Amino acid sequence: MAISSFIDDSTLAVLYPAHLTSLRARHDRALERAGAGHVVIFSGAPRGVFLDDYNYPFKANPHFVSWLPLTDTPLCYIIYTPGETPILVYFQEKDYWHVTPENPRGYWPDQFDVRIVHTINDVAKHLPEAREKCVLIGEISDEAQAFSIDRVNPGTMLNILHYERSVKTSYELECMRAASRRGVTGHRAAFRAFKAGKSEFDIHLDYCRAVGHTENDLPYGNIVALNENGAVLHYQHHAQQKPAEIRSFLIDAGARVNGYASDITRTYAKEDGEFAELVERFDQLQLELVAEVQSGLSFIDLHMLCHRKLAALLPEFGLAQGSVDALIETGVTQAFCPHGLGHLLGIQVHDIGGHMGDDTGTVIDPPSGHPFLRFTRTLEVDQVLTIEPGMYVIDMLLNNLAGTPGHAMINQSKLGWLRRYGGIRIEDNVRVLEGGCENLTRDAFAA
Ligand code: GLY
Ligand code: MN
Ligand code: MN
Repeated sequence: MAISSFIDDSTLAVLYPAHLTSLRARHDRALERAGAGHVVIFSGAPRGVFLDDYNYPFKANPHFVSWLPLTDTPLCYIIYTPGETPILVYFQEKDYWHVTPENPRGYWPDQFDVRIVHTINDVAKHLPEAREKCVLIGEISDEAQAFSIDRVNPGTMLNILHYERSVKTSYELECMRAASRRGVTGHRAAFRAFKAGKSEFDIHLDYCRAVGHTENDLPYGNIVALNENGAVLHYQHHAQQKPAEIRSFLIDAGARVNGYASDITRTYAKEDGEFAELVERFDQLQLELVAEVQSGLSFIDLHMLCHRKLAALLPEFGLAQGSVDALIETGVTQAFCPHGLGHLLGIQVHDIGGHMGDDTGTVIDPPSGHPFLRFTRTLEVDQVLTIEPGMYVIDMLLNNLAGTPGHAMINQSKLGWLRRYGGIRIEDNVRVLEGGCENLTRDAFAA
């Protein structure tokens, strides 16, 4: 499906200049702190497959994508000097094996001084002569791509850029709303495919067709899990064989718009009954957590609240017994839900900066016993993050409780019932507001 079905370029044309103004101010501060005069941002180089002559799918440097919506143009450079129009050195290789990149067009190029080059050596002509005043940001695998710039990815500069990236501009928020709408189109198609009894493979294909993404365009590999497979947190297969009986479906799949991602999970029961009731109850639990989101809240506290809610839910469905405190302290809730409640979202699905206490590189570690919590900061207005509680039967973890007080709290026969359904995760993408949040995902499902 064409991207224009999800977003209107004329809206972006209005918002994009202010996005660049924020970005320039952020880079001005970062350059000043680094004591540098220019930043050169490399889009990235193609990576060849060992012993062969083709490349892995290209993944652009997120710093590059934050400036402009080019996600599939290797070997390009942005050069920014405070107070000047940013330069885009646009690499347009004359290569008859591939399609030559078309000239930049759309709502953004008139904000740049675009310089088209046809060989990589021509890039040097556009770089500031005083290389010692330059900082280079990007993944450099070949010295030649650094053009004698010695300062590559300095922490002084990256700390500011990574810390501040969590707060989105109006332009970014519009792209992310569209990414949610795009993802939801796929989720609807996937739900229909599940109801029709299709295999994981066919559900995945229906999803990709609906969002208009190839596998490589997706922000992360779709998790399309029937029955027990829902218990594998990053289940990576798309089984072509249909199970003899289909009981449940967990889908974690997103979409991209102009480089910005959505990251959405839903879980469904095939039939009415107790698992359907558990999914509904879990959806309510997820919404209760979303209702807590507001600026000033510590995400660690929200993560711990999630465990308290899970500890209250397990006895409701006869899966475990014990007080809320005991079920947490003995590691029972952690065995049912070993991942964090959520993470920052943006150009990267797990956007960088989730553990940063400030813009100088101070780290806020996850609390002890919760090593996979990717976001430990205090919420700020216009941050976008996921809220994704889960509960699963992961035998590898539940078996670790053997011989501990937690083991006796779990009802093994009820666990046997849930095992056949795998697990549940509900994941929304929310924008933090003062006193609340905007739920990008639910808004898209409601539209
Ligand atoms: N899709 C990966 C995650 O939810 O974090
Ligand atoms: Mn997520
Ligand atoms: Mn996800």
